[in-house]
Amino acid sequence: MTTKIIGTGHYVPERIITNDDLAMIMDTSDEWISERTGIHQRRIDTGEGVVQMASKAAKNALENAGIMAEELDMIIVATSTADYLFPNTASLVQRELGNHQCTCLDLSAACTGFLYGLNTAHAYIKAGMAKTALVIGSECLSKTMDWTERSTCILFGDGAGAVVVTEAETGIEEIVSHSDGRKGEVIICDSRPLENFLVKKDVTYAYTRMDGQEVFRFAVKTVPECIHELLEKAGIGVEEVDHFILHQANERIIHSVSKRLKAPLERFPMNLQNYGNTSAASIPILLDECNRAGMFQSGDKIVLSGFGAGLTWGAILLTW
Ligand code: ACO
Repeated sequence: MTTKIIGTGHYVPERIITNDDLAMIMDTSDEWISERTGIHQRRIDTGEGVVQMASKAAKNALENAGIMAEELDMIIVATSTADYLFPNTASLVQRELGNHQCTCLDLSAACTGFLYGLNTAHAYIKAGMAKTALVIGSECLSKTMDWTERSTCILFGDGAGAVVVTEAETGIEEIVSHSDGRKGEVIICDSRPLENFLVKKDVTYAYTRMDGQEVFRFAVKTVPECIHELLEKAGIGVEEVDHFILHQANERIIHSVSKRLKAPLERFPMNLQNYGNTSAASIPILLDECNRAGMFQSGDKIVLSGFGAGLTWGAILLTW
């Protein structure tokens, strides 16, 4: 018995910000951003927030799966940009969906968050603690950006993606999952600063800081290694994988992974040109777009791979 994706959904804010729009508020250009990243535009939230985006993606996924919210035993939201410190995002999504008893938990693992979420749902299902679960990645990264820091803010966008999973005979086949906290500083965003009756501070808000080149080097080395580790565990070759659904950070990272794996680029669908890097939301948004485009056939082998702050990374092999 394993865990199968039976429905997908996504939601992105309506407001499109193109590279040319950014060039009007900072010293950058469409040419620089497109060439270095492949990103042409991103969606920016103007007030909905992580809970609303997550709920809309979730409703979409439930509809696609053909099940009711009441049938869910568990809701997991992967996010690093929650609307509230508490209650957790998943409980507020549950309220929006109208299921009032299932387990709800949030999970923070940056751009690897959705994969960790899927692993967690799978573990609950394998342990008999849940039968059907909703796994969501929802992010409002725009609120963590310093919009005067051109090398970082141009990369990110807001949005949410979701999948419904249930126990089944085929589905998730193999998982690898890793973290290395020693490189935590290479992409980091502070939480609320400590300020209480013992510690008085001038409260300043800190934004996302990133060593772009270090992240780039980490991604192009670690992702192929981790996919090789995954396929070795599963006992299959790279050529047997039909689709590689990678975290959508940068087109050059995906090109490099394709080259290092010696797998044709056509097997690496991309949508980062439209949405930028949406962190935990990027894999489920892409999954949903590919699913609705009819790209996946029953029996296809799909590799999902995420990587990001922590540092965290991992990969999942599944049969569609
Ligand atoms: N527009 C124009 N010029 C810019 C911009 C910009 N938006 N940003 C930086 N520059 C300038 C720099 O100031 C620098 O100028 P200088 O040479 O006069 O000093 C020049 O461009 C080169 O800057 P670099 O930082 O060296 O540019 P690089 O080629 O490394 O590209 C980038 C930067 C795109 C961030 C790259 O390092 C990258 O893609 N890294 C991966 C980051 C990533 O994907 N992070 C995702 C977040 S975490 C995750 O999802 C895993």
